[in-house]
Amino acid sequence: METFLWTALVCFFSGICCFENLCKRNTTVLELSSTYAGHGVTLAYDGNLALKEWYCSHTDPNRPKAWLQVDLGQPYSISNVKIYYRTEDSWKQYRFRQFYLDVSEFPATTSNTSHRTRCYTDNTTDQYLPPNIIDMPCQQTARYVIVETTYDAPEDDPVAGAMLEICEIEVYGCETGKYGVDCRPCRGCQSCDIKSGLCG
Ligand SMILES: *[C@@H]1O[C@H](CO)[C@@H](O)[C@H](O)[C@H]1NC(C)=O
Ligand SMILES: *[C@@H]1O[C@H](CO)[C@@H](O)[C@H](O)[C@H]1NC(C)=O
Ligand SMILES: *[C@@H]1O[C@H](CO)[C@@H](O)[C@H](O)[C@H]1NC(C)=O
Repeated sequence: METFLWTALVCFFSGICCFENLCKRNTTVLELSSTYAGHGVTLAYDGNLALKEWYCSHTDPNRPKAWLQVDLGQPYSISNVKIYYRTEDSWKQYRFRQFYLDVSEFPATTSNTSHRTRCYTDNTTDQYLPPNIIDMPCQQTARYVIVETTYDAPEDDPVAGAMLEICEIEVYGCETGKYGVDCRPCRGCQSCDIKSGLCG
């Protein structure tokens, strides 16, 4: 109850409202397509937002595709997804160019684009850098949230392949049938708009 009041007050007075971070649920399982040098997926949801390599998950080189999957265990009503990506004085977020964010009923290993809904596509080209902290709207109901890339950054040649170096991922939303930053039950319907509560 105290948490509820606090959240409501902070939200009301500051305009900073955030739904529940579903990555923190004990029923949520995060998985990486591969792990480089012990930089496992745990580093992507430990609450540590530091952006140096040491604090970030990291997939292996020499793979055509890299992904990070958040399996919520069952469909949830998602609002937005926030990613903190590795960046350092000497190594920028080159490998984050052209990533995409999908949601799906199916896991990353078995789903192709026809099974997925794309929430975001980065179109950054070689001369430029994508944002290293990005908050993406993704109002969907889904079980799997997949960050994926097939981009091979020229900066790390001769190392080849697509890699992801995600320091933290936060998936914000509610259980289905709930809405609002404090996840209240929809009024008079089974499912409603996660922001407005309007029955659909
Ligand atoms: C998971 O979290 C729920 C709700 O907070 C709690 O009731 C349950 O006991 C937890 N389960 C485990 C295995 O920790
Ligand atoms: C996607 O998967 C479905 C069923 O597994 C398959 O029929 C379809 O051809 C695949 N599409 C692509 C573009 O690979
Ligand atoms: C990237 O390009 C696609 C296709 O043109 C477009 O739908 C998408 O909105 C673009 N992404 C951003 C972040 O502008």
